[in-house]
Amino acid sequence: MSDQDRLIEHSYDGIQEYDNPMPRWWVTMFWATIVYAGLYYLNIGGMGSGEGRIAQYEASMAAAAAARPPEAPTLSPEALLALANDPARVAAGKEDFTKYCASCHAADGGGLIGPNLTDDAWLHGGRIEEVHKTIVEGVLAKGMPAWGQILTPAEVDDVAAYVWSLHGTTPAAPKAAEGEVVLR
Ligand code: HEC
Repeated sequence: MSDQDRLIEHSYDGIQEYDNPMPRWWVTMFWATIVYAGLYYLNIGGMGSGEGRIAQYEASMAAAAAARPPEAPTLSPEALLALANDPARVAAGKEDFTKYCASCHAADGGGLIGPNLTDDAWLHGGRIEEVHKTIVEGVLAKGMPAWGQILTPAEVDDVAAYVWSLHGTTPAAPKAAEGEVVLR
């Protein structure tokens, strides 16, 4: 007896249905996709890159790391101080400061939203490596961006050198000192 066109007993609202199986091509594809999903999950050789998922993840992480040059090692305090005495680098830092920092610290470093950078008082440390670190990491909770993610390492070095050179200058409208007084 053929399965084809076998009527199912029940009828709903006078409508009866056939109990025909799905066509063979459809059923074949159905099972094939399930088998393929299993193979894909394992990502065995010959499918995908054949590397397995962990290796693929590591490969794409390595590719991403290669696309972004590794962080330049932070300069030593002595090297940063040397930059602060290099007029060319300080001038480059001044340009970046005017572009990126003046909106919050005032063009002359006197402070607006951000603190005065010319005085002896520092919230996050007044040694040059501490100033550099604050610029790199920012103080996100207080609205100071992490410039290490925006500027190149050399630009951060320059701008830190420029901030260092601002010390002791007299801004037009200095903001009151904030933080601990650090004597240099
Ligand atoms: C959107 C505003 C904003 C911008 C732009 C900004 N800052 Fe700041 N900055 C702040 C605030 C606010 C603080 C104070 C953080 C706190 O209260 O802890 C700060 C703190 C600092 C400090 C630490 C001061 C201390 O007393 O320890 C340094 C150094 C500094 N900024 C340098 C920079 C430099 C360099 C740039 C530009 C590359 C810059 N800032 C751009 C808002 C800003």
